[in-house]
Amino acid sequence: MRCGNVALVVTLVALAVSGSHFDPLKHSGPASPYFDAPPRFGVPSMVPPGCVVDRASYIMRHGARFPEPGSFNGWIDLFYKFQNTSFTATGDLTFLPTWIPPVDDEPHEPLFLTSHGAAEAFRLGAELRGRYRLTSGGNNFTVWSAGQQRVVDTATYFLRGYLSQGNYLNSTSSNRGTIFTLPDSVNFTGADSLTPSTSCPNYSGNDGSIKSGAFRTTYQPDIAKRLNKMLKGLALDETDVGVMQDLCGFSFVIDGDRRFCDIFTEKEWLDYEYAHDLNYYYGSGPGNPISGATAFPWVKAIASLLNDTLPANATFTPPSLIISVTHDNNIPPIAAALGILNSSITDPHAFPLSTTEPNPLRTFFASNIVNFLGHVAFERLTCEKQLGEEVQHVAGTVNAVPGAGESSKKYVRVLVNNAVVPLPTCQDGPGRACALADFQTYVQARGEFVGDFVQRCGLGNSTTTIPDTVDFYTNPESVGAHISVEEVPGL
Ligand SMILES: *[C@@H]1O[C@H](CO)[C@@H](O)[C@H](O)[C@H]1NC(C)=O
Ligand SMILES: *[C@@H]1O[C@H](CO)[C@@H](O)[C@H](O)[C@H]1NC(C)=O
Ligand SMILES: *[C@@H]1O[C@H](CO)[C@@H](O)[C@H](O)[C@H]1NC(C)=O
Ligand SMILES: *[C@@H]1O[C@H](CO)[C@@H](O)[C@H](O)[C@H]1NC(C)=O
Ligand SMILES: *[C@@H]1O[C@H](CO)[C@@H](O)[C@H](O)[C@H]1NC(C)=O
Ligand SMILES: *[C@@H]1O[C@H](CO)[C@@H](O)[C@H](O)[C@H]1NC(C)=O
Ligand SMILES: *[C@@H]1O[C@H](CO)[C@@H](O)[C@H](O)[C@H]1NC(C)=O
Ligand SMILES: *[C@@H]1O[C@H](CO)[C@@H](O)[C@H](O)[C@H]1NC(C)=O
Ligand SMILES: *[C@@H]1O[C@H](CO)[C@@H](O)[C@H](O)[C@H]1NC(C)=O
Repeated sequence: MRCGNVALVVTLVALAVSGSHFDPLKHSGPASPYFDAPPRFGVPSMVPPGCVVDRASYIMRHGARFPEPGSFNGWIDLFYKFQNTSFTATGDLTFLPTWIPPVDDEPHEPLFLTSHGAAEAFRLGAELRGRYRLTSGGNNFTVWSAGQQRVVDTATYFLRGYLSQGNYLNSTSSNRGTIFTLPDSVNFTGADSLTPSTSCPNYSGNDGSIKSGAFRTTYQPDIAKRLNKMLKGLALDETDVGVMQDLCGFSFVIDGDRRFCDIFTEKEWLDYEYAHDLNYYYGSGPGNPISGATAFPWVKAIASLLNDTLPANATFTPPSLIISVTHDNNIPPIAAALGILNSSITDPHAFPLSTTEPNPLRTFFASNIVNFLGHVAFERLTCEKQLGEEVQHVAGTVNAVPGAGESSKKYVRVLVNNAVVPLPTCQDGPGRACALADFQTYVQARGEFVGDFVQRCGLGNSTTTIPDTVDFYTNPESVGAHISVEEVPGL
């Protein structure tokens, strides 16, 4: 018995040391399925004791999807490269001759959600309903979505998860949600959009792909060389390596297949991850000098709602939980506008990010922000003294929970994939949250730093009026935002 335990401990230690717990699916950047990010800043994501969340906002990428048509063609090319050749595979690659691209209904799959993606969205809806309890059963709950099908579908499955409690399955008319859908990736909605950078002529994400492309040339040839030792009669090249690494995350979210995950080493995955980090950091994140200005109007609108400040002309009051669904490249600009994830924890001069070797001090990880369903959340906390050792109860009254009483103070904290990310110069509150009034000042200062949407985007001389604020949360009729309304029955 004792010997058995020792053997078990030895095995576990060996597993830990050999890195068997390394999971490529947590290092696959935008191809990673959703997972909670590690708490890099050391703050637990649990609501701080004595606080309750009384308002929250989430902006998320759509859930896991099939490849876009362009990447799908890459899969098909790889398949035919294998099929058209007679070759011998050994070691980890013996599965290649049996591999078939996991798409079995081509008109309906590439670009659209996988079931895994639908389930991720449903689960998040169910989870947030329970976590916050900010709306009550049967309420007409409204969410906002960019217009592409996979985005609207994510909003729909989120809503169905959110509405899934109680016995409403048969009475969907009394348990409905609403989706406000905004045009996707158009150039006339200006800032009043969930895809604002496409209205910004000065915006370009090319730096990201140039830098990630440069970095890929430093490691992909070595991977091809290593894998080719396991093949006779077939030579993989850098393009094949890129497609095969993508196939880890994508195959997993389609049918759970991890075979491509198993053929690369830990270092090869970390290089692959870093290439994505460069792409998003410089493409749409804090490394792009224009991206903060494109997302700032959104941040400002959310800051006002967290402050209970409605515009004078508001015709709609958003729910206390504000859900918005969009694309990967619209999430990093929010980090840029907020001034987060743009430094290292230990060395603020760890930038710029190198294109020849991974920067180990960075805080920006694509796998932790633009993976499928990746999200940035704002929570308004209301906090006061925690419950003491002894609590009095007066018959006939329900005691207010700490945070809900008269003397409570309000704070805001930001979570990225459920990991707390403190604001660089505003983190004196519980759990390093920022006092609500200071948050407003912080946001205003960020606005001055990142600059005005119209001016930075080069729209100053435009002959048509380009909306420069986010109006759509409080004005569904907002002409600039071009909203369409769709009701979704609960499940
Ligand atoms: C493989 O063969 C097919 C059918 O003959 C052909 O259409 C395709 O171009 C070939 N592809 C590659 C990558 O060799
Ligand atoms: C739900 O709210 C939306 C937005 O205000 C509205 O258009 C819709 O009619 C409402 N539906 C129900 C069933 O109340
Ligand atoms: C749902 O509807 C079906 C068919 O009309 C009925 O048999 C069932 O009892 C209903 N269930 C509930 C929970 O109302
Ligand atoms: C938007 O794009 C259309 C079509 O490419 C173009 O004609 C129009 O000038 C653009 N509008 C703005 C405001 O850039
Ligand atoms: C990110 O940090 C760099 C280096 O300090 C700075 O030049 C840049 O303006 C910052 N970006 C944002 C969006 O704050
Ligand atoms: C936030 O709310 C406070 C109190 O109502 C108000 O004085 C302040 O002007 C608001 N700030 C913003 C930026 O809306
Ligand atoms: C706007 O037009 C004026 C006058 O033609 C020019 O001087 C200025 O540079 C233009 N500004 C922008 C942002 O294009
Ligand atoms: C944006 O574009 C305008 C005109 O196209 C240019 O004058 C201006 O310098 C640009 N602004 C930034 C911040 O790049
Ligand atoms: C409401 O007011 C804001 C700020 O003045 C303005 O930008 C927006 O266009 C107005 N919305 C409507 C629907 O009138």
